[in-house]
Amino acid sequence: MDMTPELEERLAKLQQKYAVMGQDMLSYIDGLLYADYLTYWDYIHLDVLLNLQTPRTPFPDEKIFIMYHQVSELYMKLVRHALEQIAHDESLTGEKMRVQLKRINSYYKALISSFEIMVDGMDKDQFLSFRMALLPASGFQSAQYRMIEIAATETKYLAAFESREAMTNATPDELYDNLYWKKGATELASGKQTLTLRQFEKKYAEEFKRLLAEYRDTNVLACYHRLSPADQKNPEIIAEMRAFDHAANVEWPSMHYKSAVRYLMKKPMDIKASGGTNWQQYLPARARRVTFFPELWSEDELKDWGRKHTEDALNQ
Ligand code: HEM
Repeated sequence: MDMTPELEERLAKLQQKYAVMGQDMLSYIDGLLYADYLTYWDYIHLDVLLNLQTPRTPFPDEKIFIMYHQVSELYMKLVRHALEQIAHDESLTGEKMRVQLKRINSYYKALISSFEIMVDGMDKDQFLSFRMALLPASGFQSAQYRMIEIAATETKYLAAFESREAMTNATPDELYDNLYWKKGATELASGKQTLTLRQFEKKYAEEFKRLLAEYRDTNVLACYHRLSPADQKNPEIIAEMRAFDHAANVEWPSMHYKSAVRYLMKKPMDIKASGGTNWQQYLPARARRVTFFPELWSEDELKDWGRKHTEDALNQ
């Protein structure tokens, strides 16, 4: 190859780059001579990814259960990635926020439409057998699910429904203690926390508290309040925020509840969940009534929050 002006220009730029760091460009070029080509499988760590499924029982459908949870966690990581870009952008505009929210909504669309794999994609008898080997683990212990909530809204909106109004001037510790999922995994009669919750908090409580502080002023709702008045009225931004709220707090929970109803509802006595919650009262969107952005919904919409989806899940 001839020494063209383009090549000379590139070499000069490279030399400059390495000189700034006190490095010798020629040594790096020698390194290039011996470097191997990048492969697809190394780049995405395919071998690791495809070897992360280790069932605890011989039932073949347990692998479906594991893989679908892993797929869901990866989608949640995509959602968190978009939420982080909203939170950390110091020159956030309405348009940039709309783009990230639109991405979030496309991830939720995939999460919700694919949940059929759980509702109808496993043999019920196999599921009821292998789940006994998983106690007391539960999807309840998905930390990313909580991290999405923390990055989405003000903590008071994540309080248990009955204590939400009283949370307006609560301290960070009071807010943390009243989170709806902490209440949901507490036995009503004794007030004792389930083992699933205790283990979950032992691992993540400190991180959750750190994130609650980090996102206090950078959650989606807080960022929305800092947009220009025109952006706050922009129907496209409002539509994306509402779609996110509905997907995360009504549609996904309802698909998930539908799978619990399919596998665990057995008249006259429902089957106990692996995480030990009173899942019939805890899981339905209608029961918890979590809404990230209440100000974007009408009174009637809030009054009926999750009602139809919860009824549909029960009448499947
Ligand atoms: C057959 C499929 C499934 C069934 C029967 C099921 C059942 C349950 C039940 C009964 C609970 C309540 C907690 C407990 O007492 O254990 C729960 C919580 C939870 N599960 Fe699942 N689950 C299924 C699949 C999934 C999948 C694929 C995910 C994806 C990560 C998931 C994520 C969660 C989350 C995040 C919670 C906590 C929900 C909340 O606090 O609102 N579950 N699940």
